[in-house]
Amino acid sequence: MTAVEPILPAAADLDGRRPPLGAWAYFEGGLVPFGSAQVSLATHALNYGTSVFEGIRAYRQADMSLALLFGHEHFARLLRNGRLLRASVPESADDLVGITRELLRRNEHDGDVYIRPILYKAAHSIRVQLSDLDDRVAVFTMALGDYLPTGGIRVTVSSWQRVADNAIPARGKIAGSYVNAAQATEDAHAGGYDDAILLTADGHVAEASAANVFVVFGPEIATPPLVDDVLPGITRTAVLEIARDAGYAVAERRIDRSELYLADEVFLTGTGVQVAPVASVDKRPVGDQAFTVSLDIQARYFDAVRGIDPRYAHWLTPITQESHP
Ligand SMILES: Cc1ncc(COP(=O)(O)O)c(C=O)c1O
Repeated sequence: MTAVEPILPAAADLDGRRPPLGAWAYFEGGLVPFGSAQVSLATHALNYGTSVFEGIRAYRQADMSLALLFGHEHFARLLRNGRLLRASVPESADDLVGITRELLRRNEHDGDVYIRPILYKAAHSIRVQLSDLDDRVAVFTMALGDYLPTGGIRVTVSSWQRVADNAIPARGKIAGSYVNAAQATEDAHAGGYDDAILLTADGHVAEASAANVFVVFGPEIATPPLVDDVLPGITRTAVLEIARDAGYAVAERRIDRSELYLADEVFLTGTGVQVAPVASVDKRPVGDQAFTVSLDIQARYFDAVRGIDPRYAHWLTPITQESHP
């Protein structure tokens, strides 16, 4: 199992709990049983990767109620990214938060939840274009166990180059562009690593397969700028805010490959990985094997998403009041 991608839990992990996939999905304008939410073989998005998607988490709070993390921000990003595909749908970001709330109430997952919205070209068409292809938005949910890697993850710098803004914009979270990430992950796993860090065409650090990258040098925490072919990660923004609030010096600046080998610490951020310390890059251990800063940021992040730190309560949308054991 990769340390960084949220994936479907194996049946053996379920331990008698409810199945991971939610019984209901939002599909073609309504809530339907998950099994009926099916697209045709001729669907444009299936043939050409013409969709944008999101990954959102809902976290159990201290009282076991469920709260959506950055729900509005994720749906706003989805709809904005749709513009890259000339896609638009009648649902607003607020509508989609409401739909997700209803879905989560019906699906009654145990524990934390992963939510996958997808805005896609639904037309049955083999025309290679973007307009007039019947845009739709769908949402499904799954229970998500705690896949937090312990002891730091091992990453490699990929020989695959991050997809450039002039090819398929990395900032767009466009489904087709994830072939780029999948190529890098595949090679990383084959080489015994947990994940890959991809570089831009001119050799600067871009991001990991499904996460943003941070380096720590003394009191400075730095992450590549958005123009270096990265997704403007919502967790990236949250971590920059947490780090500033905690008194760290933060910088969005270009990062050379060599800095990955020289940094005191490297960590990844994303909805899936949350805040994941990196133990080694290309088998070179990072400087501080205690992950002092990474674990400090990680602890602050968990306090925020579990509703323990009231400064970040506005990041959360309450979903259910009732408790699930
Ligand atoms: C390529 C890529 N970079 C970064 C991220 C992290 O983004 P976020 O923090 O919005 O989940 C993701 C995950 O969605 C991703 O797929």
